[in-house]
Amino acid sequence: MSLSVGIHDLSFATGEFVLPHTALAEYNGTEIGKYHLGIGQESMSVPAADEDIVTMAAAAAAPIVARHGTDKIRTVVFATESSIDQAKAAGIYVHSLIGLPSATRVVELKQACYGATAALQFAIGLVRRDPAQQVLVIASDVSKYDLDSPGEATQGAAAVAMLVSADPALVRIEDPSGLFTADVMDFWRPNYRDTALVDGHESIGAYLQAVEGSWKDYTEQGGRSLEEFAAFCYHQPFTKMAYKAHRHLLNYCGHDTDQHDIDRAIGHTTAYNRVIGNSYTASVYLGLAALLDRSEDLTGRPVAFLSYGSGSVAEFFAGTVVAGYKDHLRTEANREAIDRRKPVDYAGYRELHEHKLPADGGDHANPEQTTGPFRLAGISGHKRIYTKR
Ligand code: HMG
Repeated sequence: MSLSVGIHDLSFATGEFVLPHTALAEYNGTEIGKYHLGIGQESMSVPAADEDIVTMAAAAAAPIVARHGTDKIRTVVFATESSIDQAKAAGIYVHSLIGLPSATRVVELKQACYGATAALQFAIGLVRRDPAQQVLVIASDVSKYDLDSPGEATQGAAAVAMLVSADPALVRIEDPSGLFTADVMDFWRPNYRDTALVDGHESIGAYLQAVEGSWKDYTEQGGRSLEEFAAFCYHQPFTKMAYKAHRHLLNYCGHDTDQHDIDRAIGHTTAYNRVIGNSYTASVYLGLAALLDRSEDLTGRPVAFLSYGSGSVAEFFAGTVVAGYKDHLRTEANREAIDRRKPVDYAGYRELHEHKLPADGGDHANPEQTTGPFRLAGISGHKRIYTKR
C-alpha cells in the first residue's frame, strides 16, 4: 500500500481590518445585491499599515509550530503572488520570526493563485522521499486592485499555513492530479505595479476553460468519478465563482445543475472566503478550512480541489478526510481570526490602500496598528524590519 501523505494541520490568519461591502456600495453607488448576490461577497479583509504577507504568514504558522514543534520541519515552501522582494524568499523572515532551526530549506513559489497547490504537491514529493520529515507550506497574499475599478470589490488578504506529513491527521492527498496550462493574459501584475491588471470577464472564461481542461486530464489519468465527491473546494476569487465553476463542470459532464445539489457540494466551502475576500494562493485552502469546520462528519469522504491561477495553470485533485480529523481542527481560532478584525470606514480603507513603504528604501517607521503577533515595523537602508509584538 502506498504511503499516506497529506495535510496534518492547517491554520490561517488574516488582516487587522475589515471593510463591509455595504461601505463600498454606499461610496460608489452600487446596488448592494450586486456584491452580496452577484459576486457573493459580504466583506473584505484589509491589512494594517504594519502588516504584509510575512506578518500574516508568521501569524498563521506560529500555532502550527506551537502544536507540533520544529524538529521534523526541514522545508518551508512559501507561495505568494504579492511578493515583497525580487530575490529574497519571504519565508526566510517567517523562518526567523517563528524560530525554525537553521537546518531548513526555504523557498518561494509563484504562479498566481495556483502557487500553493504546487507547493503542496512538491511537499508531498519531499515527504514521500523521507516520511520522517514534515514540510511547512505557506500561502499568503494581499489582493489589491486599483481603487474604483471593477476588481476593487474582490480584494482581500489572508495566509494559510499547512503542515504536510506522512499519516496526516486531516486530509490524505491522492494521486492522480489533472493538470492544465494555457498562456492567457486574464490577470497579471508587472513588476512595476503593486495592483493587478485584469480583464475580468476574460478571466472568468479562462477559469472555466481551466476547470474543463484539468478535469479532462484528471479523468484521463484514472481519477474518481464526479459522484464520489462529498464536496468541491474551488479557488474563490469571489464566492460566486465557485458556483459558476461547479455548474460548468456539471454541464460539461452532462449532469443536472440542480441548485440544491450545487449548494450541498459548495456551500460550506464559501463561508470564510465570503467575509475575507480573495486571498489568492490561500483561497482554495480557506475553502477547505471552512468545509472541515462547518460540515457534518466527512470521515473517509473524498473531497475535490480545483486550484486555478491566472495566466494560467490549474490542477484538479482529490483528498480523503481522515478518521478523527475533528479533534485536530482549529475551528475556534478560525472564528476568532475573522471576528477580531476591526471594521474600517471607506475613508480609512482608502488611506490603507494607498499606504506604501517609501520607494527609496529610506528610514520609515510604520504606524502601530496591528494587534496581531508580528508587525512590519518599518524599513531602513532598504531592509524591512519585522518584530514580534
Ligand atoms: P463587474 O463587471 O463590475 O460585474 O465585475 P458584472 O456586471 O459582471 O456583475 C457581476 C455579477 O453580479 C453578475 O452576475 C450580475 O448579473 C450580478 P453573473 O452574470 O456573473 O452571474 N449583478 C447583480 N446581482 C444581484 N443584484 C444586483 C446585481 N447587479 C449585478 N443588483 C468582475 C465583476 C468579477 C469581472 C470584477 O469584480 C473583476 O474584475 N474581478 C477581478 C477578476 C476576478 O476575480 N476574476 C475571476 C476569475 S480569475 C481568478 O480567479 C484568478 C484570480 O484570483 C487571480 C490569480 O489567479 O492570481 C483573480
